[in-house]
Amino acid sequence: MKPRLVREPLPEAVAETPAALQPSEYTAALIQVLQARRDCVRGASVLEVGSGSGVVLAALGALGAAQLCGIDIEEDAVSSGMLLLAELGHSEAAEFYLGDMWLPVAGRRFDMVVANLPHFPMERADVPGRLPTWSAGGASGRALLDPFLEGLDGHLGEDGRAFITHNAFVGLERSRVVLARSGLEMRSVLKTLVYISPEKRERMTNAVMRIEDGCTIHCYGPYAFGEMHVVEIARAGQSLR
Ligand SMILES: C[S@@+](CC[C@H](N)C(=O)[O-])C[C@H]1O[C@@H](n2cnc3c(N)ncnc32)[C@H](O)[C@@H]1O
Repeated sequence: MKPRLVREPLPEAVAETPAALQPSEYTAALIQVLQARRDCVRGASVLEVGSGSGVVLAALGALGAAQLCGIDIEEDAVSSGMLLLAELGHSEAAEFYLGDMWLPVAGRRFDMVVANLPHFPMERADVPGRLPTWSAGGASGRALLDPFLEGLDGHLGEDGRAFITHNAFVGLERSRVVLARSGLEMRSVLKTLVYISPEKRERMTNAVMRIEDGCTIHCYGPYAFGEMHVVEIARAGQSLR
């Protein structure tokens, strides 16, 4: 897909966020961390890859970010994000692209990058109530996570920081190794359990469930919960607070 700067919500955009784009507990955890880090946000240029409803950018705008850039691969998401930021008075600072991952911002750097990417270990599938692009991270869960981590260094400013949601069951250590190749470090700043719906559980890659059950996935009869972290990433040697 050729990246496209979207200047106005697409004509067919609906005034309300479609149910499929409604924020999740991942979004809530990410916002919780950003609220506690308002010192990093104030005056910053921020990018969200996979901006969905736009609510994370809206929270960053409320915390005083100076520039808000969103990228999403779904037209509905780009339109919803634009509408939300306009409604909340952040239009001047906002910029949205319809496109894939880093392509729309090639060559650009930001003070802060945030992401709550699809990284549930399952093949692309229809999950009731969500678009197929919302959660699926391929069999390993890392189909988008790895390219994101590999490209991050090229888009972070000198003292830049990233905050991302990260399911523990797709491998925090693996991410550490990928980041270290480009001189970046990470640490977990929030750890919580998220509910895994039956629809997602039945589509989850068997091998991941087999290895992680009892470690980072906890099943109680028909109910399952997975360990999720919000991770902070910065250049090695910069203090990760
Ligand atoms: C889990 S949702 C998070 C959305 C947002 N943080 C929120 O809470 O509303 C992931 C988002 O990533 C988008 N996405 C999936 N693949 C993408 C890609 N290759 N490039 C950009 N965005 C992508 C999806 O369309 C979806 O809006």
